Amino acid sequence: MDDRNCLWLDIAGENPFPPLDEDLSVDVAIIGAGMVGLHCAWRLRDSGRSVAILEARQIGHQATGRSTAKVTSQHGLRYASLKRSVGEAKARLYASVNQRAVDTIAEICRMIEGEADLEPRDACLYAVNEAEARRLEEECEAARSLGLPAEMVSGANFPLQTTASLRFSGQYQFNPVAYLRGLAREIGAQARIYEQSRVTHVDAGEPCRLTVNGHKLTAQHLVVATHMPVVGEGMFFTKAFPFAHPVAAAPMPQDIALDGMFLSAGEPSRSFRTARHNGQTFLVAAGGEFKPGVPEQQAQAMEELVAFMRGELRTGEPTHRWINEDFRPMDGTALIGPATSSHTNIQVATGFNAWGITQGCVAGEIAAMHVIGEEHPAAGLYDATRIRPIAGGPAFISGNVQAAFHLIADRVLEGKATKLKDIAPGDAAVVTANGEQLAIRRDLDGSLHVLSAVCTHMGCVVDWNGVDRTWDCPCHGSRFTQEGEVLSGPATAPLEPRFLTQSTVNDAESPSTSGRDDGA
Ligand code: FES
Repeated sequence: MDDRNCLWLDIAGENPFPPLDEDLSVDVAIIGAGMVGLHCAWRLRDSGRSVAILEARQIGHQATGRSTAKVTSQHGLRYASLKRSVGEAKARLYASVNQRAVDTIAEICRMIEGEADLEPRDACLYAVNEAEARRLEEECEAARSLGLPAEMVSGANFPLQTTASLRFSGQYQFNPVAYLRGLAREIGAQARIYEQSRVTHVDAGEPCRLTVNGHKLTAQHLVVATHMPVVGEGMFFTKAFPFAHPVAAAPMPQDIALDGMFLSAGEPSRSFRTARHNGQTFLVAAGGEFKPGVPEQQAQAMEELVAFMRGELRTGEPTHRWINEDFRPMDGTALIGPATSSHTNIQVATGFNAWGITQGCVAGEIAAMHVIGEEHPAAGLYDATRIRPIAGGPAFISGNVQAAFHLIADRVLEGKATKLKDIAPGDAAVVTANGEQLAIRRDLDGSLHVLSAVCTHMGCVVDWNGVDRTWDCPCHGSRFTQEGEVLSGPATAPLEPRFLTQSTVNDAESPSTSGRDDGA
């Protein structure tokens, strides 16, 4: 993955923390140095617990660093439906802890002396027709009733034709990678932070026993702060399902002043804000949604996003393009806390549904308080053990049927087969040869690199993400580098290497292996 394709990672600093290179025993091990992991460590800083943070790559290079980085309690059209589904009291709790997270993040930004480029910005939901406008009115009423700073506005400094706009005041935008690096430096004096330190095995127990860079680490408490948990306890890959958005950044036209962070009320979703980069103002835009690991959907979503930026906001060609993946829990609310009732010393945080900045901060606090024996006010709301397959009903069935379809169809029906000769230099695809699905990449000089296309999590077939240059799994969202190393789980093992023999090449070119055009 070329991280420089992402605006935030293009301007990120160097890697200041060492890899783990010895055996270690701590009170708390945290896997993942994103919003959840670092906020958990921050909350534990005066607790007297020894803490080790294990980041497989670099701080902020996974989910947080690929987000649009809006620091806001406005989570789309959230509050009216939340009041209906969980009731007034729980909806009020959701609103208050996320608005408080906005303030916490702003305070930390000030502490790290401005390097996170925090900018106050109202968060605006906009409607482009009367039906959407009515939904905004309902949402505004619900948000205000829960104590949030919401109001309907008109005539805002807005470059698009809209019929209504709902504004949350007192919100912010920031640089998420700079923020995490500044926070890590503050934490670094009181916790051990390791980058390039991948956890490859976890034995649940008391203590938990981890294998990290080939070394043994024992911990009384384990906080799995990876996007999707990389432990099997709780089987969260059956309770939250992957989705993705294209994101792009382009220099902002000088005659457009965008005073706010914006999100469409309707589909396809359009989310945009400004960002400062090398003394210039950029537009950062995201949406609409597609299924990861489905290249045709991804290409179309990116094409439509760029057309929106160029047509509606008059930007030039984007300088940065990347893909942002997240997980949607079956009942809409994130899953945070002990993984199971029998593994209360293993905590997880997943299913942020594209709103991981404030909810990541909340999740870190929930996990830290559980470690020190206190209960966070929102622990029950986000309880990760609340969802059981039967209770999940249609969402559980739909999400897992889609995964099962890929698991069977991609392998048995050869749904992703392309011919070897159709892979252009610099491109990659899945090819069927000798009865096996192969992930094949052709370098610009024509040389071929071959991996098994079978995801090491549960055996679905990955496909090529040409924007990030990764192999992505459609079933539960695992991602692998172009060399096959794990970028994000639930998979923990790399794609297996394969060798291309003459027999494989012959079979990969034969007519019988041509792909099935079913649009799956
Ligand atoms: Fe589960 Fe690939 S992520 S099979």
